Amino acid sequence: PSFWVVIPAAGVGARMQADRPKQYLRLGDRTLIEHTLDCFLDHPGLRGLVVSLSAADGYWPTLACAADDRVNLAAGGAERANSVLAGIKRLVALGAADGDWVLVHDAARPNLAHSDLARLLESLADDPVGGLLAVPVRDTLKQVGPDGRVVATPDRSLYWQAYTPQMFRLGMLREALGGALAAGIPVTDEASAMEWAGHAPRLIEGRADNIKVTRPEDLDWLTGLRG
Ligand code: CTP
Ligand code: MG
Repeated sequence: PSFWVVIPAAGVGARMQADRPKQYLRLGDRTLIEHTLDCFLDHPGLRGLVVSLSAADGYWPTLACAADDRVNLAAGGAERANSVLAGIKRLVALGAADGDWVLVHDAARPNLAHSDLARLLESLADDPVGGLLAVPVRDTLKQVGPDGRVVATPDRSLYWQAYTPQMFRLGMLREALGGALAAGIPVTDEASAMEWAGHAPRLIEGRADNIKVTRPEDLDWLTGLRG
């Protein structure tokens, strides 16, 4: 199916402790955000893409992809969900309709495989709601108390890690994000807003190496992966 994309890229990357927002650090020959965008720009089904940026961002204009006419900008917000909602509103201004697919993908997740993007799109093509790439939890999970001691070992087979892209019908996602933000509930991904709105997103198993770069060792790991 054809689809639109929102890339939230308005974070400061505090946990990365670098001299610039982590999406502008290099992985091999290019910045993280350039790797991120390329996977979508290479796909023939892409209708348009919005990157949500911080007002203080001076790095974006220096990138080659800033000149690509399929790439549009929105003003990011205080939280990731605000940045995503601003991106969705920009897509509507560009002609996106409520029933269209929108894929939301973290700028700081530069190792998305073309095969994972294709599987997500194909698996959900006929779904009324949508879903997300996710990975089954590998390690044994521990619930801890305030003293740092184990309280319980939950059944690992019930838990998955939520990745991106997260792919939903545009109108439903706009309503869910707007409603959840107004209600003040924590919205750390699109699916949590959709769940709050009463929808049940589908999980599509993806590659575990589609990690979000959060801490310095994540970038070290990806750099090693690429040799
Ligand atoms: N993001 C955003 N707007 C915000 C906060 C985050 O667009 N107000 C984006 C980030 O740029 C990133 C993605 O959401 O691409 C995932 O967020 P996260 O990993 O938390 O990035 P940061 O918020 O930049 O990092 P940190 O939380 O360590 O400061
Ligand atoms: Mg953050």
